Amino acid sequence: MSLPNHVRLVEVGPRDGLQNEAQPISVSAKVRLVDDLTEAGLAYIEVGSFVSPKWVPQMAGSAEVFAGIQQRPSVTYAALAPNLRGFEDALAAGVKEVAVFAAATEAFSQRNINCSVSDSLKRFKPIMAAARSHGVRVRGYVSCVLGCPYEGKVSAEQVAPIARELRDMGCYEVSLGDTIGTGTAGDTRRLFEVVSAQVPREQLAGHFHDTYGQALANVYASLLEGINVFDSSVAGLGGCPYAKGATGNIASEDVLYLLQGLGIETGIDLDRLIAAGQRISQVLGRSNGSRVARARMAQ
Ligand code: HMG
Ligand code: MG
Repeated sequence: MSLPNHVRLVEVGPRDGLQNEAQPISVSAKVRLVDDLTEAGLAYIEVGSFVSPKWVPQMAGSAEVFAGIQQRPSVTYAALAPNLRGFEDALAAGVKEVAVFAAATEAFSQRNINCSVSDSLKRFKPIMAAARSHGVRVRGYVSCVLGCPYEGKVSAEQVAPIARELRDMGCYEVSLGDTIGTGTAGDTRRLFEVVSAQVPREQLAGHFHDTYGQALANVYASLLEGINVFDSSVAGLGGCPYAKGATGNIASEDVLYLLQGLGIETGIDLDRLIAAGQRISQVLGRSNGSRVARARMAQ
């Protein structure tokens, strides 16, 4: 399969990147991060989550973040919604696109959203109906597609029907999440081969955490499988609160550098993206998780 001319990066730093942070992060720092990402040319930014603040305290201020950001009409600003309550809160905050999230394993589903996989899919149906009537687009996630912190290895055959169900209920795109970053390039290729028999490749995205240092290889393996949407996190921020030890997503700067090297268009300015990552890394008081950013800063 030939490589695509254009790839869309879904910037999940403000959500997946920050959701696991124990230290308080001000609304203004989050707003600044999203505005910096808009300035860098990202066309899609996941800004926050409308989830229970008891489960994920860091996302509690998401409505305020939405109220504070400078939105450009050409950019999608999205939020996670696990149930109808979350969807309604997102709608009230003016959100125009939401993401629902299911898991490939029962244990992760219970830990993450306190219900079985099939109950979670049932819970999403009223969200889909409400979203349709309000003209809100819905993206779907499947977590633990290559491994689960509680159940171990996960087969592609386990993932495919869940991705299919999300697509069939109306998700325009389904992002496959290697939540704990254990997958390797061969597993990734097989995953997309198997899942694409149920959901067209144009409706699939890759979401790779870099815990085992495999994320960039997995992005390349996905490109070879005809996938052209990837979730990434500026400065490699993050992790999932319900997957202990899981590190951040692949750093957006590192994916962008790879794509630029392959001659693939994204519309993103690498220098501005690096500046955005540096600023939030300083706010958090930690070193930048992007190798490309570190190399550039050292020059
Ligand atoms: P529950 O405790 O079963 O919910 O949680 P409940 O319906 O029984 O309600 C309990 C309380 O939560 C009630 O409040 C509700 O009002 C409230 P109380 O009466 O106790 O004061 N509540 C809410 N509050 C705010 N917003 C809401 C909401 N819903 C109920 N939407 C629930 C179920 C789904 C709410 C909970 O488990 C939850 O919020 N989970 C979120 C977990 C999460 O955000 N995980 C991280 C994102 S997923 C991820 O990172 C993976 C991904 O990146 C892909 C990958 O890497 O694989 C996407
Ligand atoms: Mg994630």
